Amino acid sequence: MDATRIVDLRSDTVTLPTPAMRQAMATAELGDDVMGEDPTVNRLQVMAAERMGKEAALFVPSGTMANLVCLLTHCRRGDEVIVGHLAHIFLFEVGGSAAVGGIHPRTVPNLPDGTLDLTEVEAAIRDPQNVHYPYSRLICLENTHNRCSGAVVSPAYMAQVRELANRYGLAIHLDGARLFNAAIALGVDPAELARDADSVCFCLSKGLSAPVGSLICGPAEFIRQARRWRKLLGGGMRQAGVLAAAGIVALETMVDRLAADHTHARRLAEGLARLPGIVLDPRRVMTNIVIFELAPDTLSPSELVQRLAARGVKIGAIGGRKFRAVTHYGIEAEDIEYALACFQTVLSAEEPMRQPGRLTCPE
Ligand SMILES: Cc1ncc(COP(=O)(O)O)c(C=O)c1O
Repeated sequence: MDATRIVDLRSDTVTLPTPAMRQAMATAELGDDVMGEDPTVNRLQVMAAERMGKEAALFVPSGTMANLVCLLTHCRRGDEVIVGHLAHIFLFEVGGSAAVGGIHPRTVPNLPDGTLDLTEVEAAIRDPQNVHYPYSRLICLENTHNRCSGAVVSPAYMAQVRELANRYGLAIHLDGARLFNAAIALGVDPAELARDADSVCFCLSKGLSAPVGSLICGPAEFIRQARRWRKLLGGGMRQAGVLAAAGIVALETMVDRLAADHTHARRLAEGLARLPGIVLDPRRVMTNIVIFELAPDTLSPSELVQRLAARGVKIGAIGGRKFRAVTHYGIEAEDIEYALACFQTVLSAEEPMRQPGRLTCPE
């Protein structure tokens, strides 16, 4: 067995650019993108807008900046956004919209399938005539839903949210960091998933394997204003075509292969669910994210992480006794089998603690 094997399941953000991306980066035609003159960025933006069925697009450095720019563009200081309590925007983006934009988050519980109960959303919408309230301005959705085990949100649900938002004059922002995963899992065009959102963003640097970058897509006037917010946040990059070139290769070559990541995640989930000590319903796993729990009478969370890491299998502890494993480019079927064998070994009671760095599992 290969004693140096590393199976890094912490995130799909660990993916490295493909050889074709490196080649495209080296030869990209460049210009000053703050002046709108980088032909490669411009090409990527046109491609992204087309894929999302929107008028225009804007290249930004990260998913976090994409979401922040969108919230700043939709809202004024003191406005309220309705957002799931497990949304990446709410949990993991440093409270940026409040810190930078004075935007007030109003959380509604996420259901296990990543959606928000529409009755709860409607109940959270404020009466604009009441002087005590902030203005409700925006509903934020996430697809796939990271903390809901990569759950896929359907076009039919999006249409229901649209109908509700229209009734109250609210806008919809879709954090589609992994929207292509959702599109592949559902067998629909990503534009169909984005249709009912006013703004949508997606990441190039997750399952699509580009090194850097996200795209914001929406109406041309929205993107014009978003460009100012991007500049304010320091996200105006000059010869950014070096990065956009990798993004173009990502869109051209890395979308269809996401199906393999989903197959691997499903196999991992099914294998884990059979192990004593693991709590997981594999039917929840529809894309590339597997969230599972360790039963109370087994290892501690840090023991599990360390014992797996000692065998080259890396997973993320996400709080309590919960963990996340994410499949991606570079993880093959045999890596999943290896990871499952390592889980089985470390979860067996008689397994002694090993020295980190000795990758000798399974025996
Ligand atoms: C759903 C979701 N949105 C946004 C982001 C932020 O992306 P970035 O890490 O590029 O800032 C992530 C990152 O993992 C994410 O999972």
